[in-house]
Amino acid sequence: MAQEGGFRAGLEDVVAGTSAICYLDGARGVLAYQGLDIHELARGASFEETCYLLWHGRLPDRAALGDLQSELAAARALPEPVLRLMRSLPASNGMDALRTLTSALAHTDADAGDASPKANYRKAVRLTGQIASLVATHGRLNAGGGPIQPDPALGHAANFLYMLTGDRPGALAARAFDVALVLHADHELSASTFAARVSAATLSDVHSAIVAAIGTLKGPLHGGANADVMRLLIELGEDATPERVEEAIRAKLARQVKIPGFGHRVYRTEDPRATHLRQMSRELGEKAGHPGWFRVSQQIERIVKDEKGLNANVDFYSASVYYTLGIPIDLYTPIFAVSRVAGWTAHVLEQYANNRLIRPRAEYIGPPYPQTFVPLDRR
Ligand SMILES: CC(C)(COP(=O)(O)OP(=O)(O)OC[C@H]1O[C@@H](n2cnc3c(N)ncnc32)[C@H](O)[C@@H]1OP(=O)(O)O)[C@@H](O)C(=O)NCCC(=O)NCCS
Repeated sequence: MAQEGGFRAGLEDVVAGTSAICYLDGARGVLAYQGLDIHELARGASFEETCYLLWHGRLPDRAALGDLQSELAAARALPEPVLRLMRSLPASNGMDALRTLTSALAHTDADAGDASPKANYRKAVRLTGQIASLVATHGRLNAGGGPIQPDPALGHAANFLYMLTGDRPGALAARAFDVALVLHADHELSASTFAARVSAATLSDVHSAIVAAIGTLKGPLHGGANADVMRLLIELGEDATPERVEEAIRAKLARQVKIPGFGHRVYRTEDPRATHLRQMSRELGEKAGHPGWFRVSQQIERIVKDEKGLNANVDFYSASVYYTLGIPIDLYTPIFAVSRVAGWTAHVLEQYANNRLIRPRAEYIGPPYPQTFVPLDRR
């Protein structure tokens, strides 16, 4: 909403920089990475191809893709001190652990202290490999299992599921997760990406920028929503009757409770990512013999659209997709980071390449200046 003095609450629709990475048209529901429509990428590209696209501005040929796959595979084994730290952390939620452990990775990075463009690119690749391993291994330890070594023969998505579950996933599960990673990889100046760019613009290091982004992603208004969606679905139950869903959702809306997974700052149409996740939720649910999550989700979607005119966003159907893939709820938001680290690092590299400190102004609304200073013994 526009306010006096040109200030817009939440910086809504404020253009805060230029970027060649992600094209977003909220009125038409268009999302494209480097001009390539997200629907085409979801249908045809792997997460690794998407990473290359975000980092280099073009899709890789076979040789370049092979090189990147090898570099990512080499990055997946976690440094021993970081594994030790992970084991020593008190029981904590996945995002808290990810934030701390990503920060710890900076201490073991082969390029620590080197801020050259080449070193920063290597950090981007390394962090993308390592963050997937951090999240999968944290999930293993939380479930009482031991870490699983990465399998270099597997793609990024399949290897993540393997390191998390100990089972090599089938083709449908691996591709579904791969598509989820492609869909989450970048989203222009989302709150976490903006946080990363603000940090990078001080010429702080790549790890610091990514830690800032992780802390920002954690919030329920951003990446935290996907876990909240699943909690809502579980609260209703896989076998919830249409009457129960209707009553519960309308009661929440009547109390002005926000339904997680709906609404968006930019999209005024369907979130193009939700289109794919909805389809995946239906297919995976049917295949797993649990069509109820999709059925209940669809009903919630109809009610929220009917009563508030709001569309499902990326987080709504990703919840049931991850649940059907057997992923613990605590990992849903960390998984967002497993993908978005590609976009964050692309934006950080872009910021460094054409940097100016990001330092906006605030409209002052405090006591009028000047106030009279009263010494301590007279207050
Ligand atoms: C995404 C989100 C943060 C965008 O926020 P925003 O652009 O600041 O929009 P607002 O929160 O001001 O919402 C505008 C109106 O829609 C309503 N609204 C927005 N999202 C809603 C939701 N998920 N459920 C119910 N009502 C919602 C608000 O209550 C507000 O209504 P009002 O004008 O009557 O007060 C917001 O839609 C939201 O909180 N969604 C739920 C969390 C979520 O899914 N986040 C992931 C985003 S990808």
